[in-house]
Amino acid sequence: MRAPAKKPPRRVAPPVISAVASAHITLNTRPDGSVFASFDGYSAELGKYSGAAALRAQALSTGLPLKSFAAGRTPVDKEIDVLVRRLARSGLLEYRLGHADNDQVVIEPQMADYWPQTPDLGGAERIVLSRFAYMRRRGNEMILESPRAGALFRIRDPKVAAALALLATPQTINRLRRQDGFPGVELFALLLDCNMLFKIDAGGGDGLRADEGDDNLVLWDFHDLLFHTHSTEGRQANPLGGLYPYAGEMPPPAAVRSRWPGQKIKLPEQHAPSPTAPADAVSPFTRLMHERHSTRGFDDSNPITLAELSQFLDSTVRIRSKWQSTIDQADEGPVIDYTSRPYPAAGSSYELELYLTVNNCAGLKRGFYHYDADLHALVPIDARPQDIEVQLNSAEFAMDAPGLPQILITMAARFDRISWKYSSIAYSLILKDVGVLLQTLYLMATDSGLGGCAIGSNNIDLFAKMTGIEFHVEGPVGQFALGRGMRDEG
Ligand SMILES: Cc1cc2nc3c(=O)[nH]c(=O)nc-3n(C[C@H](O)[C@H](O)[C@H](O)COP(=O)(O)O)c2cc1C
Repeated sequence: MRAPAKKPPRRVAPPVISAVASAHITLNTRPDGSVFASFDGYSAELGKYSGAAALRAQALSTGLPLKSFAAGRTPVDKEIDVLVRRLARSGLLEYRLGHADNDQVVIEPQMADYWPQTPDLGGAERIVLSRFAYMRRRGNEMILESPRAGALFRIRDPKVAAALALLATPQTINRLRRQDGFPGVELFALLLDCNMLFKIDAGGGDGLRADEGDDNLVLWDFHDLLFHTHSTEGRQANPLGGLYPYAGEMPPPAAVRSRWPGQKIKLPEQHAPSPTAPADAVSPFTRLMHERHSTRGFDDSNPITLAELSQFLDSTVRIRSKWQSTIDQADEGPVIDYTSRPYPAAGSSYELELYLTVNNCAGLKRGFYHYDADLHALVPIDARPQDIEVQLNSAEFAMDAPGLPQILITMAARFDRISWKYSSIAYSLILKDVGVLLQTLYLMATDSGLGGCAIGSNNIDLFAKMTGIEFHVEGPVGQFALGRGMRDEG
């Protein structure tokens, strides 16, 4: 008896990537053809369009396939392309992958310049999950994200999660295709583009740490890279800064801790610096500690001078001496170079570099510079004027200041310098070093008759653009505004 003929596999149409306006916005058109998005009482202008384009743009509320306008075949296609890219740059767009009635995933951009890309993936190519990709519950959804990705993926179909679980070890696309519920190669291509997956050379590789990225990436622990990207601006779209998100839900926690019960041992009173305290009752350092305060407004008619800046850097961060050692003074192993500087640093690593965005300094041109702590020299970096402006404006905003700082000091960490040695605590040591350096800068500014203010937020993507250095190699971890304070700022 002849075996029954095998049924040919059912051909399923490939899933489609569509652009969708974010759920929290509505798109409106005025009679003159200008389109704007409104959300939370705000509106964002998106430009003027023809009646036909405005009509087609309505499909953005449910999903407009990217392929339907990407080729720009008609003038309306081109208009839609402009509108969609404007929405994307403003962070008002999401993307869906799936079929008309069934989304596999919804893609939420985390960076302004994210645009879904589907690089070619041949059947014989081997892919594996990045060790930085992870799935978690957010509200009522399951999301897949990674500190390396420009977007996060909301997983709508459990089959997608099952396919991802399989990718804990390298798999060829052909093998994945044979699995029940294969979600289509498009999803894997999108994830590859986001660095959630990576390819393994035909030559071998087990898909472990050393196969993914350069040496700098190899040195990052998962939790450290996640903390870095999620506690800074530039690579994530979460609300950020002093937004008091729980003010309506719980009372403010106390400024001073409630007292421990039990007997108190009162400590003797010290002289506080005051005009009436005897001159020798208070040490110069105590006086300096008491005088230190944050200065946010600067006197632009009498800016900090290059000589003052030079003195400031020399006294706080310049390399004093150099030395060498082996690991734990062993006879074998690599010789490690060390430096000594005026402030303490974890393991004498001195991983922090200072970059100066100069707005107003007598004797120094406006621009972006690296401070060479060895040569005691400033090296100009060719950053775009608009990026310099954005950085200074962000500092002004963060301080709620009346104007731009005269100099914005960005502390950038050379991550490898510290993670080559320390496991689990590398990033936390960097942040502790930032705190130490911030106080050092505060005290020196006070001692020099200058003013300064720490800034808690910084944009790691902007810094990467200004320096051309990838965000995981060297990146900002702290900022300090410096200048001559306005008279009433002391
Ligand atoms: C880590 C750190 C981050 C800070 N971030 C900001 C900031 O983003 N904006 C700001 O205006 N002040 C910032 N400050 C300054 C504090 O608001 C200030 O130190 C505090 O209010 C105490 O005031 P004082 O410094 O004048 O004594 C920061 C201070 C530190 C130590």
